[in-house]
Amino acid sequence: MTTVIDGKQVAASVIDAVKTASQALTEQTGVKTGLAVVIVGNDPASHAYVSSKSKMAKECGFTSVQHTLPEETTQEELATLVQTLNRDESLHGILVQLPLPKHLNSEPIIQSILPEKDVDGLHVVNAGKLATGDLDGGLVSCTPAGAMVFVKRTHGEDLSGLNAVVIGRSNLFGKPMAQLLLAANATVTIAHSRTKDLPGVCRNADILVAAVGRPEMVKADWVKPGATVIDVGINRIAAPEKGEGKSRLVGDVAFQECAKVAAVITPVPGGVGPMTIAMLMANTVIAAYRKAGKTAPKF
Ligand code: GUN
Repeated sequence: MTTVIDGKQVAASVIDAVKTASQALTEQTGVKTGLAVVIVGNDPASHAYVSSKSKMAKECGFTSVQHTLPEETTQEELATLVQTLNRDESLHGILVQLPLPKHLNSEPIIQSILPEKDVDGLHVVNAGKLATGDLDGGLVSCTPAGAMVFVKRTHGEDLSGLNAVVIGRSNLFGKPMAQLLLAANATVTIAHSRTKDLPGVCRNADILVAAVGRPEMVKADWVKPGATVIDVGINRIAAPEKGEGKSRLVGDVAFQECAKVAAVITPVPGGVGPMTIAMLMANTVIAAYRKAGKTAPKF
């Protein structure tokens, strides 16, 4: 029997743990966890994401601050806002929603966020801590952290002897995911568009993680029987069967056929997606614990 991971359920359990941790911190120290979310411009999808992040922060009992800036915001104005948020003692996490409008350069903005408030895990200090295996000192990018919760709930904390293949080498996902798997003792391969015999490489994976942005690219004969398959892709494709002009979301994995071969698989939607916001809340409460000089909870 194949297990289909219910991402919403796992995310809800993480959120419960975040609420408990944030309450405990307030009781012990009087500190209320605070998250600032910054959005620039009018992209509707980004506005939807940011609203759910701000709403979830409130649900977790955090101070939740949202800065909505107009499309024509300058680099200097955005940089000044980040400096203000860096200095604000009531805020433990800062997230600048990406992508920024084209005239803005995101990299200097991200790198100007204090590493200890970088709840997106995108600062080079946090990327470096992850790369050196300092998992307890830095903050880990939310989507790989969420995918890793699934891996650990399936295989335990120690992945010794297991082969993991990550398809995709982005800074936002592929590289940090590979580092997390490596830190848990898996034998890790990072595959990408230039990999020779990608299906053959994937067939070697006990844990296969796909993050390429190509709808249903991973086929059943790429999957080792009994493997764990984590699908990080979110692709909108035409769905004429639902009516003219309709669309639907699919992952990077051909779910129906791969589910027949895998032992454990994540669906799209409802797999990794809900975990991203949950791990953002987790990172924020972790940052608040550290700021208060307390040992941070693990999620
Ligand atoms: N846009 C899409 N995903 C993300 C994310 O995880 N963090 C930020 N900052 N922007 C995003």
